[in-house]
Amino acid sequence: DLANKGNHRHFMEKEIYEQPEVIAHVLGHYINIMENRADMGSSIDFARIPSLAISACGTAYLAGLIGKYWFERYARLPVEIDVASEFRYREIPLSPQSAALFISQSGETADALASLKYCKELGLKIGAVVNAAESTIAREADAVFPILAGPEIGVASTKAFTCQLAVLAALAIGAAKARGTVTEDEVQALVKSLAETPRAMRQVLNTIQPEIELLSRELSKCPDVLYLGRGTSFPLAMEGALKLKEISYIHAEGYAAGELKHGPIALIDENMPVIVIAPHDRFFDKTVSNMQEVAARGGRIILITDERGAAASKLDTTHTIVLPAVDEVIAPMIFSLPIQLLAYHTALFMGTDVDQPRNLAKSVTVE
Ligand code: G6P
Repeated sequence: DLANKGNHRHFMEKEIYEQPEVIAHVLGHYINIMENRADMGSSIDFARIPSLAISACGTAYLAGLIGKYWFERYARLPVEIDVASEFRYREIPLSPQSAALFISQSGETADALASLKYCKELGLKIGAVVNAAESTIAREADAVFPILAGPEIGVASTKAFTCQLAVLAALAIGAAKARGTVTEDEVQALVKSLAETPRAMRQVLNTIQPEIELLSRELSKCPDVLYLGRGTSFPLAMEGALKLKEISYIHAEGYAAGELKHGPIALIDENMPVIVIAPHDRFFDKTVSNMQEVAARGGRIILITDERGAAASKLDTTHTIVLPAVDEVIAPMIFSLPIQLLAYHTALFMGTDVDQPRNLAKSVTVE
């Protein structure tokens, strides 16, 4: 039964806990294609395109933003990205030799579809990263990259987000391989890291809940929450804030850690929790120094890091969530889990309608 919650209280909870399984499925699918087909089995020639445009809405847009870091870093492919409602009207000078990717769980979002048609008219090759394989966006595309997440019922997207990340990571690595911007050894190492995602996800989901519940009880008493991150953790900070406001109705903002000084630091006091997303990557020390600026102003810090990050320094935090240390390329998928669970459990304490939050729709088919 597709609409069965199983042992879970909400579809959102079920969909969070399904992630190791669906991620294993989608990664298996793309790793197989990558190993057997230089062209990733698609009509988009990633080796030749001069640039890539990405457009989407909501959570799918934030997945795209993480994808941009990967396409640029690994495949040296410049990415133009915007929310679809801006993208469609910006009159962006796009090359007809380029390709455009549209990311959409439902495949029916009006602004994303309009952006797609705009790019199609300009002559770009169109790729669709969708969950609904029969959707309008999938039908309009030259190449469909299914995220294979299975039906997502909870209005707040969870497993579709991490499956979108899995597909974008695989496409970026495939593009890097096709463009010769990484060595064969580097490709092998990246693919090996991808394959470790389901196990790391399982480990997190099996251990983290008691700690998340304690923290969520505290968050549920707060009017505002700030999320900070650098690199791919910056879009993740925005996703954390989006998830929290969507289902708990608590005001939240996601900021690039380096922008702290340019505004949000004025909000810091002993009442506002600051959730810092900082895997032990090449940005870790910089993010920690931003965190110390928060601590120096009496801010309450919840640090989400990994074992290496927790060991690296004595950190002045209110609480540290420690995840397994994983390769940088899969960190956004692993770090999504505490962020989703914090939003979910905070919403439970608030008593909101988790699966059907007020005023929101699963799919927005009007402009
Ligand atoms: C709505 C949903 C979000 C989703 C966004 C884009 O706002 O509530 O969860 O991220 O639409 O939807 P799509 O189906 O295009 O991914």
